[in-house]
Amino acid sequence: MDKPRMVGILDVTDASLTHKTYTLDVEVDARPGQFCMLWIPRVNEKPMSISNTKGKVQVTVKKIGDFTERLFELGRGDKIGFRGPYGKGFEYVAGDVLLVGGGCGIAPLRPLKDVLKGHVVVSARTVDQLLFEKEFADAGFNVHVATDDGSKGFKGFAHQLVEELLKEHEFKCVFCCGPEPMMRAVLDVCTQANVSSQMSLERYMKCGIGICGSCTISGLRVCREGPVFKGETLLGTEFGHYTKDASGVRRKHNGC
Ligand SMILES: Cc1cc2nc3c(=O)[nH]c(=O)nc-3n(C[C@H](O)[C@H](O)[C@H](O)COP(=O)(O)OP(=O)(O)OC[C@H]3O[C@@H](n4cnc5c(N)ncnc54)[C@H](O)[C@@H]3O)c2cc1C
Ligand code: FES
Repeated sequence: MDKPRMVGILDVTDASLTHKTYTLDVEVDARPGQFCMLWIPRVNEKPMSISNTKGKVQVTVKKIGDFTERLFELGRGDKIGFRGPYGKGFEYVAGDVLLVGGGCGIAPLRPLKDVLKGHVVVSARTVDQLLFEKEFADAGFNVHVATDDGSKGFKGFAHQLVEELLKEHEFKCVFCCGPEPMMRAVLDVCTQANVSSQMSLERYMKCGIGICGSCTISGLRVCREGPVFKGETLLGTEFGHYTKDASGVRRKHNGC
């Protein structure tokens, strides 16, 4: 297994009220959708999507538990362990595409703004948690906002807005990342509309390189065969229905 190398944090910016983007002093040959493992000594090691694949690596993080709380205490000049890039990224598609990001799920989709064209749905629970709207608009994307509480844009869930957009436009492919029940709902909408899709999954990871088996979904290793899967591969699996916790116990997902 690769050993983490200690890299410096070059910069930390507020990406939203609840998210920070870290610029790390490391450059890797990564494809949008790939992830890295970040290690804080004596705390833990966690997977993070690479939210900038050109030049210095960036990750965009939401403070949610032990690891991310500690990461939020680090700043410019501090060092963090890095290994990667890992996993299989998105496959590029010619023509207009639809990107759909829920909360922090927009992070792995962000680098696609430089290689694809079309529309993007940026969704979050509230307006405070929306990410990268301006960056996508500046890159020429048609930006659609959805918030659960209606504090900005469409009031409702991302898949409901996707259903409307699929009626109005022809997309070659839908690229999606967010909470798993949300992605499952988007997959079902795409399947019904006969539009192909690619979904970037999050599962509990330990090794990140296909050895430990903690990240499997119906036999597929998310860290190796994913995290990006074609929608058709996920049909008929436990995707969106069951997940596994840190101890490997299978649990039912809550609704969208
Ligand atoms: C391929 C991949 C890419 C990822 N990319 C990112 C990224 O770009 N940015 C980012 O912030 N995180 C990302 N994550 C999630 C990240 O690795 C951590 O799991 C997460 O930040 C929580 O770690 P923690 O130790 O702070 O919280 P924990 O102590 O592990 O969790 C605290 C609580 O939050 C819950 N929880 C944990 N993760 C999530 C989640 N994703 N959504 C909702 N509830 C959750 C736990 O069940 C627990 O109740 C990614 C995960 C994977 C597998
Ligand atoms: S995290 Fe170990 S097999 Fe995927």
